[in-house]
Formats: sequence, structure tokens, C-alpha cells
Amino acid sequence: MLPAQQALLRQKLLVLGSLAIGSLLYLVARVGSLDRLQPICSVESRLAPRPLGQILLRTLQYKRGSAHELHRVNGTQEQVGLQQLVQQLPHAIIIGVRKGGTRALLEMLNLHPAVVKASQEIHFFDNDRNYARGVDWYRQKMPFSFPQQITIEKSPAYFITEEVPERIFKMNSSIKLLVIVREPTTRAISDYTQVLEGKERKNKTYHKFEKLAIDANTCEVNTKYKAVRTSIYTKHLERWLKYFPVEQFHIVDGDRLIVDPLPELQLVEQFLDLPSRISQYNLYFNATRGFYCLRFNVVFSKCLAGSKGRIHPDVDPSVVAKLQRFFHPFNQKFYQITGRTFSWP
Ligand code: A3P
Repeated sequence: MLPAQQALLRQKLLVLGSLAIGSLLYLVARVGSLDRLQPICSVESRLAPRPLGQILLRTLQYKRGSAHELHRVNGTQEQVGLQQLVQQLPHAIIIGVRKGGTRALLEMLNLHPAVVKASQEIHFFDNDRNYARGVDWYRQKMPFSFPQQITIEKSPAYFITEEVPERIFKMNSSIKLLVIVREPTTRAISDYTQVLEGKERKNKTYHKFEKLAIDANTCEVNTKYKAVRTSIYTKHLERWLKYFPVEQFHIVDGDRLIVDPLPELQLVEQFLDLPSRISQYNLYFNATRGFYCLRFNVVFSKCLAGSKGRIHPDVDPSVVAKLQRFFHPFNQKFYQITGRTFSWP
């Protein structure tokens, strides 16, 4: 063969080799990551239902090994087939509280190999039309999982909706219930901020928080304002306790989940009877976001959407103090009932 032909052949082989290696790397990345291809991506923006194949692969790739390790029945049970994937009713529900950090809690629990989350808020128990569709409809809204895994959904409206405790009790009287709370005045302001943002998006004007939270006639706290009522945690919890014993609830400290999530997650793992699997490796502080973000593996991490962690408007300190005084006795009762004390004012 002539030297020119040899050089051409070498060049062709080089190109072919590079192409093969490139394709292989692409495939590895694609299969290994699936829905985690964007290093930082919005959680809430991915609401479109994922194709079944993607769900199956994701579950297999990310959770299969660990689920096996957790629940190995015998040494030979290494061939779990796709046919074992099922849509299970939730074993635990994050019932509230709105703006308590419900999304962060769900996403962080989903780091656990034995937990599979329902990505969307299903609103089965608080929405009469959905509830009328029956429990099979609800089950079909659940993600695919292996029988050994547990499914968790979150719909914060459940906590404050009158009919929900009885409806959940009828479905499963031994279900585990997670309630994530924040200091009540901060939560009320966060609630207001979310509504305000919605109004601004539609170019609508909205009242100041002070005007909504304080009754202009009496100068007292306006208990008709929903954001105030939602923060009276004990009132809502008492309705739930007519159906479920207090041991079936776990209270999560939403303020601590923001600044130091791991210990809170470990308490939830214990409550759910799961082995401790979420580690500091899975959580890293992102200075740009000002929040902890989630790390699944060396390549894939994500932060929550920008709608989580809004800047709150300044509120008149005298209104803040009035609200804090108002919530104080309710908080004391909440501590007493739940056995969990917070350093709220
Ligand atoms: P703010 O927007 O008031 O800061 P929910 O998911 O129930 O709507 O709660 C939203 C709150 O979750 C946010 O309230 C934010 O403070 C809190 N949160 C907790 N951990 C977070 C995290 N890692 N990333 C973003 N927000 C987080």
C-alpha cells in the first residue's frame, strides 16, 4: 500500500473510532441520566407527563440497585422485570402546609432510593370532582414503582380542607401523614407573596399585606384572611385528630429544612421506617439560589424552581409583632399536641 493510501486509511480509522467513542459516551450519559440531563433545572416546570418508557428506565437506572439492596429477599433475586412495576397508592402524604416547604420536602425525600414521588399535586381529596372519579383514578395518577418502594404525594390544600381527613381515612386509616410548618407569620407573608406575584403577572393591583392581615375597623388581626387562617396550625390539626392518632403525623420543621435539611430528612426517614440513605452528599448549598439544591450523582443536580424562595415584601414591624402575638397561644397548643416545640416568638 502506498504511503498516501496508508495515511488516508489511518485518518478514516481515526474518524470512525472517534465517532464510535462519541456515540458510546452519549448513550452512557443518556441512559444514566434520563430526566436529569439538565444539571440545574426547574422542578415545577417539568409538569408534562413523562412517557412510560422514560419512567421505567429512570426507575430502573436510578432506584433499582438500591431498592434491591434494601429489600433483598434472597440472593438470587437479581432479575426484577419491568412487569413488577406498579402504580401504588401513596404510603405517605405531605398534607401541608402551603408555603411550608412542601415541594422541597417531596423532592428531597425523592433522593431516597426507596421513595418515588408523584411529581404533580394530585388534589384528589380536596377537589370534589377529582374525588368523585374514585380511588382507581387516584392510583392511576401515581408514578410507577417497585412493590418494595413507597410512593409519596403532596397536596398542601389537604391540610386546610374540611372533608379531607375523613376521605383519606376511608382510603387508608393507617397512612403516614407529613406536615411541614414554618413560623406562622413568615408563612403567612410567603403565602401573600405568592398571591401577589400571581396578581402582578396578570397586571392586576393587590392590597398591601398589612391591609389584608389587619381588620381596619377593629385594628385586630383579620382572621377572615386565608393566609392568617392557614397559619393557625392547631385548628386544622385538631380536625385531623378526629380521624387519626397523633402518632400517625410527623411534623417537619420547614425553617430548618431551609438552612440545614439533612437532620430533618433523617427524622422523616425514621418516621417512614426507611433506612437512612439520604446523605450530605445529596444536598449542597447553592449560593446563587441561596438554598440547598439536590445532587443525585456526580453529573446530575438540580435546584427548585425560582418560584420557591421568593423575596418577601417588607411588612410593617408592628403588624408582624401583632401577628406573632396573635399566633402565640395557638402555637403553644400546637407544641403541646404534637410534642414538637419550635422557637417561634
Ligand atoms: P418562600 O418562597 O417564602 O421563600 P412550598 O413548596 O410549600 O410552596 O414552600 C415554598 C417554600 O419552600 C419557599 O418559601 C422556600 O423558603 C422553602 N424552601 C425550603 N427549602 C427550599 C429549597 N431547597 N429551595 C427552595 N425553596 C425552599
